[in-house]
Amino acid sequence: MDKFLIQGGKPLEGRVTISGAKNAALPAMAASLLTDQRIVLRNVPRVRDIGTMRSLLDELGVDSAVKHEEHGNRVEIRARKLINPVAPYELVKQMRASVLVLGPLVARFGHARVSLPGGCAIGARPINLHLKGLERFGASIRIDHGYVEARADGLNGAPFTFDTISVTGTENLMMAAVLAEGETILENAAREPEVEDLANLLNKMGAKIEGAGSDRIRIQGVSKLHEAQHVIIPDRIEAGTFLAAAGITRGHLKLDHVEPAHLTAIIAKLAETGLKVTPGDAGELEVYGPDSLRSADVITHEYPGFATDMQAQYMALMTQAQGSAVITETIFENRFLHALELLRMGADITVDGRRAVVRGPTPLSGAMVQASDLRASASLVLAGLSAEGETLIDRVYHIDRGYERIEEKLRHVGASIRRISET
Ligand code: EPZ
Repeated sequence: MDKFLIQGGKPLEGRVTISGAKNAALPAMAASLLTDQRIVLRNVPRVRDIGTMRSLLDELGVDSAVKHEEHGNRVEIRARKLINPVAPYELVKQMRASVLVLGPLVARFGHARVSLPGGCAIGARPINLHLKGLERFGASIRIDHGYVEARADGLNGAPFTFDTISVTGTENLMMAAVLAEGETILENAAREPEVEDLANLLNKMGAKIEGAGSDRIRIQGVSKLHEAQHVIIPDRIEAGTFLAAAGITRGHLKLDHVEPAHLTAIIAKLAETGLKVTPGDAGELEVYGPDSLRSADVITHEYPGFATDMQAQYMALMTQAQGSAVITETIFENRFLHALELLRMGADITVDGRRAVVRGPTPLSGAMVQASDLRASASLVLAGLSAEGETLIDRVYHIDRGYERIEEKLRHVGASIRRISET
């Protein structure tokens, strides 16, 4: 397993290009199953999860081709036919977003057999709402031997209200509804930019979706979808991570290929702690880390609130801030694993259920630490950039799932970080 070796204490200085959003590219790739025509996606990030989704499409019998371009990869997919509509456990356990093929498979082929994703480090991660929605549209759902078996002889649109806001739940049901008979109304829908980006792609394919990006999405079913090209939106979480990196190293960065409008809550919270974040030319953000950081409480919320996917990175930043910050995680039940590793580096953090109190500033000292999930790994990289001495982060495959060549991007702006590849 690869490791990162980081020598802390160097302020970051320079320009970082942000990649396309993994969590927009994954549903977009799944959407290609809804048509037998060619779908071309651009600005696709070069991260592990995209590779896993391609393996899943391959398993289904769907051709896909990748071409390296200046900004991200160009991925071309054509789901002419299926070999078998099965998403196997081996792939789903690697990436729970595999569940995004469920809606499209049932909508287009009337049948899907998808392994239940099971839990992960940050929580139970159920998909009950995905299944409840498909049943509402007329699918029959059976669970056996750890697999969801979904069948439908055509889907019928219907009103559906989410008990809990779910990003991939909204995406799955939106993809199922576009080929259903009649109208669907999704209430209490997720408002994330990645949901809106998926709707933009689906509408380019001939779907009739209104209201994506709001909590009420209206879909008129159509009989067929056609070819489309689409550029994936920038990754707002990668951008937020680099803003926090400038903050924790008292650096000065310019980010390009970002969409500042997707980071409003993140920028507002970081500004409260003393970072100076200003939009530059189109698609740019400039950030200065202050000489001293101020503590500020944060509560994670669904979009447009402060993203749960930025919580771990924010906790690392708060270890260097003056005062105490109360961090409340409202989305997932177990998303403080990074706190245990930060404590080993010298942080002062008290965790109590969904609340963590971070007292600072506490000088961090480099240590051997272990990544547990994608965003916890990012938190440990940030801590390593600030720590005195060397930090060795193990299991960086977690970070490779969602960050494109993060060590190269960081080295490019002055960080002392290198990958140690284990054979
Ligand atoms: C998406 O996960 C993201 N993944 C996650 O990013 C992100 O943390 C999460 O949304 C929240 O923003 C992708 O988009 C691929 P949810 P998702 O369904 O859709 C409960 C990363 O770092 N729930 O919005 O799986 C669930 O337990 C990843 O890239 C149900 O109860 O999350 C959770 O408490 C990590 N029943 C809450 O809703 C359901 O059927 C939100 O989960 C579905 C969800």
